Order: sequence, then structure tokens, then C-alpha cells
Amino acid sequence: MGLYGRTGRGKTYGVVAIVKAWTMGAGLRALELNGALVGPWVPTWAPWQRTLARLRGLVRQGGPAFEDALEELCRAPLLVIDDLGSEQAPKVPPGSDWAITEVLTPVLDTRHDAHRATLWTSNLDPIQLTDRYQARIVSRLIGMAPAIEMPVHLPDRRIERGL
Ligand SMILES: Nc1ncnc2c1ncn2[C@@H]1O[C@H](COP(=O)(O)OP(=O)(O)OP(=O)(O)O)[C@@H](O)[C@H]1O
Ligand SMILES: [Mg+2]
Repeated sequence: MGLYGRTGRGKTYGVVAIVKAWTMGAGLRALELNGALVGPWVPTWAPWQRTLARLRGLVRQGGPAFEDALEELCRAPLLVIDDLGSEQAPKVPPGSDWAITEVLTPVLDTRHDAHRATLWTSNLDPIQLTDRYQARIVSRLIGMAPAIEMPVHLPDRRIERGL
């Protein structure tokens, strides 16, 4: 399932609520810090920009670390990709962008085939996501469960609360 819409509308908040319900139902524990879930925890939380930066670092390190991290993203019983599209837009076509071909595609393909749940949030709507990542990725994301738009009339809660 995905939540998309403008900033501050509660997409991350909504997904955190789902993850909490999921972990409680599964008898697991999720730790929370300042409204964000932190480890050790079973659902894998992947703030997308930071996750890609970390993975690039692991590639530079060499050795099996990158493959291990990718495997974790593929195998996590529940994966949350938070803020998909927040990373810098690729300067090359999606078909030759490393983050898309070496990370997003294998992760989503594997998870889709294994029926593992993936939740995601994005400021981009499905049409913009298709422009960014190509239809194949968006088909995997939306094929697994629907994408829901946060109601456009909602206020930006950060501005409202002076955050
Ligand atoms: N239903 C709610 N009740 C109380 N607080 C909320 C609710 N929804 C969101 N908030 C608070 O509003 C702020 C913004 O919400 P959130 O971070 O989920 O927005 P977002 O849509 O993920 O924004 P972005 O696109 O910038 O990531 C957070 O501090 C969050 O705790
Ligand atoms: Mg968010």
C-alpha cells in the first residue's frame, strides 16, 4: 500500500500507525523515537534518500556488505519505503540509473514474487512516479496494494503545529 500527496499531510504518520498495528498483531515490538520507528525491529524502515546513500557507501566499501543490505530489503517481512522520489532525480534515463536498476527493481521484483508486503510514501503521484521510475516499478508498487492519495484539503500539519 502506498500513501502519496503533499508534504506534511500525515503520510509517514499513517504508515507508522500501520506498522505499529502490524507489529502488535505479529507479537513483535517496534521502538519509537520522536515519532519515527527505530531498530531493532522487524519491519524494515527505509527512508529512501538515506537508504540509497547508505547503499552507495556500502558499494564503495566493497565486499559482501551491499549484497547483504539488498538481501535485507528483499527479505524483510514488511518493508517501508518512506519518501520514495525524495532522492535526487537521476540525470540518466531510468533504465540506466543505478538506484533503479540495482536497488529498486530487484527489491520490488523479489518482494512482489514472494508476496511480501511493501508500504511506501511519496510526494509524487503515480503518474509522476511512472515518469521517474518507469511503469514496471510503479506496476509492482501499485500491483501489490492500492495507492491512496492523502486528501488535498488536509492542512500541512507541520506548519499548523509550528514544527
Ligand atoms: N493524524 C494526525 N494526528 C496527529 N499528528 C499528525 C497526524 N498526521 C500527521 N501528524 C503530524 O504532522 C507532522 C507531519 O506528518 P508526516 O510527517 O506524516 O507528513 P508527511 O505527509 O509524511 O510529509 P512529507 O511529505 O514531508 O514526508 C508530523 O509531526 C506528524 O506527527
Ligand atoms: Mg513523510
